[in-house]
Amino acid sequence: MGSFIVIEGIDGAGKSTQARLLAEWFRHRGREVVLTKEPTDTAFGKLIRKLVLTGGREGIIDGAKISHEAEALLFAADRAEHVAKIIKPSLKAGKVVISDRYFYSSLAYQWARGLDLEWLVDLNRFAVRPDLVILLDLPVKESIKRINGRSIRTEFDRIVELQRKVRENYLQLAERFPEIRIVNAHAGVEDVHRDIVALVEHELFGK
Ligand code: TYD
Repeated sequence: MGSFIVIEGIDGAGKSTQARLLAEWFRHRGREVVLTKEPTDTAFGKLIRKLVLTGGREGIIDGAKISHEAEALLFAADRAEHVAKIIKPSLKAGKVVISDRYFYSSLAYQWARGLDLEWLVDLNRFAVRPDLVILLDLPVKESIKRINGRSIRTEFDRIVELQRKVRENYLQLAERFPEIRIVNAHAGVEDVHRDIVALVEHELFGK
């Protein structure tokens, strides 16, 4: 079996950059890496981008087009494909799978939208548990600075409010799921990468 690592955090936490750096780190050590993400690039992921994330990141804030439940079900359907077609086969082949977001995103975001957490946990029970989840944590004020360029002005306050709730939810989830480890994402890219590598060495290789 391979190793399954997930990177989570609010928008603008630096997930994709750190996922890429971690993938390079493993490749330098001769491991075969599958770098993947949610929403995926499958038909389901495309449907989510069309129905839920219309207008980019802001679309999910107003979310007016479909119900919150339908939204959660779409993310779960996309994930089911992700698990069956990419994650499980890659792990079976002994590869390292690094996913930028996973079901913890559904718990943090859809819970923040007012859905019942236990329903969301049940809905995602099919999703294989990762060996390690790195939660990139930083104050919303900082993340907003990073994503500000991509935001619509009128949505700003609602974005800030949702991100605050999502951050809070992630921190609560870290108390419930022992595989979640919090990394301070406030530092520079290289420092955060070093912290992640130290965690991976400790948690996965017992160093
Ligand atoms: P994001 O990582 O920003 O993808 P991209 O960079 O491709 O646009 O994810 C898009 C948004 O979807 C983000 O705001 C978090 C949200 N999301 C959920 O609400 N639930 C989920 O289950 C997932 C995977 C993402």
